[in-house]
Amino acid sequence: MLSFSRTRSPGRNTSPLAGGMDYLEPKRKSNVLGRLILIVSLTALCITMLKNAPSFTSPTSFSRSQEGVTHVLVTGGAGYIGSHAALRLLKDSYRVTIVDNLSRGNLGAVKVLQGLFPEAGRLQFIYADLGDAKAVILHIPKILLYEVDKIFSENAFDAVMHFAAVAYVGESTLDPLKYYHNITSNTLVVLEAVARHKVKKFIYSSTCATYGEPDKMPIVEVTPQVPINPYGKAKKMAEDMILDFSKNSDMAVMILRYFNVIGSDPEGRLGEAPKPELREHGRISGACFDAARGVIPGLQVKGTDYKTGDGTCVRDYIDVTDLVDAHVKALEKAKPRNVGIYNVGTGKGRSVKEFVEACKKATGVDIQVDFLPRRPGDYAEVYSDPAKILRDLNWSARFTNLQESLEVAWKWQKSHPHGYASS
Ligand SMILES: NC(=O)c1ccc[n+]([C@@H]2O[C@H](COP(=O)([O-])OP(=O)(O)OC[C@H]3O[C@@H](n4cnc5c(N)ncnc54)[C@H](O)[C@@H]3O)[C@@H](O)[C@H]2O)c1
Repeated sequence: MLSFSRTRSPGRNTSPLAGGMDYLEPKRKSNVLGRLILIVSLTALCITMLKNAPSFTSPTSFSRSQEGVTHVLVTGGAGYIGSHAALRLLKDSYRVTIVDNLSRGNLGAVKVLQGLFPEAGRLQFIYADLGDAKAVILHIPKILLYEVDKIFSENAFDAVMHFAAVAYVGESTLDPLKYYHNITSNTLVVLEAVARHKVKKFIYSSTCATYGEPDKMPIVEVTPQVPINPYGKAKKMAEDMILDFSKNSDMAVMILRYFNVIGSDPEGRLGEAPKPELREHGRISGACFDAARGVIPGLQVKGTDYKTGDGTCVRDYIDVTDLVDAHVKALEKAKPRNVGIYNVGTGKGRSVKEFVEACKKATGVDIQVDFLPRRPGDYAEVYSDPAKILRDLNWSARFTNLQESLEVAWKWQKSHPHGYASS
């Protein structure tokens, strides 16, 4: 159908002169038309073939499963804990995809990781909002805004570490719906994608805030969860969804309930750099460093009449290096159809006053401290019993010297006065 006949028309020989052109024209016209049809058909065929060819949809190492390589999706990987986890995973030869909407994290952290692991197939960054189950795809230079399910369709994830969340107790009491949306609803979106694409392992970032204010210390994993602020409640709901889903699924689940996370990469490559506008909700270590740098006039300790040793709140401070180590151990030991729930803490409670003293020593600054009334939503005393995670995952905290953890973090803070913008 598409071939051209090269045989000459008898008319051409019989009438080469007058009128010859008139005689030949219809045949030539049909040849030209045929050629045109051929070209169009071939072009269409080529486009179809190219479209179906793997190279046209630009598959990368990220879109294919590879024997011996575990591909981990790190949501919230531009944030404080997520970036440290990504660094550790990359160091341990995992393939990493970071998904983050940069609402609270830093592109600078991703750039540090890309600089350390520039090889193809090691790390990719996808700028996306996890709440965007059905968003339009936007093309921003070098960045794509994807809907969540599309991310899972285009990447072969073996495991998900779901860190992305808004995570300030104080803010959650002021704007609870933001927390239920960002934590509970977004976890549902991620979980649906995980289920649809049959991802084998799911590691969830939960928190001791899900326990609320238990009567008995230390907190064990079976301590009743009675959260007292929207942050803790939203995380507890997310946990419940994961547990219910896991009952009829082959997926391996690990829920890690962190206590208060401090410190930063001992080699000084990453740090904690919350956006300036979040300072007022910030965590104690951030406030301590801001006070030491003179960004804020001093520290405000909220609540001195709690039923604790010195009247200030007691918390269990876990170094981020230990925390990400717990994640890697959880990932390695996660088994199909199994759920592991673990406290990740040191097992030792430290008062806010103790923390402030350690901070003064770590920074060498005699920080001014104001003692104020309690803040709504805070609980008096919280520290973990980390026996279960030691028994099951052979994990225990190694960086338990508060002052040393703060010294490491302070070093990064001093060399990055404007966070990642100073890099
Ligand atoms: N820092 C702590 O002391 C602590 C304690 C217990 C639990 N956690 C949990 O650990 C996780 C990480 O906390 P962090 O301290 O690193 O916080 P972070 O704010 O530094 O990091 C969170 C990251 O998630 C991203 N993110 C938020 N919403 C998103 C969305 N809708 N789509 C895509 N990305 C989004 C942010 O941009 C940010 O990069 C959170 O789930 C938090 O609840 C933290």
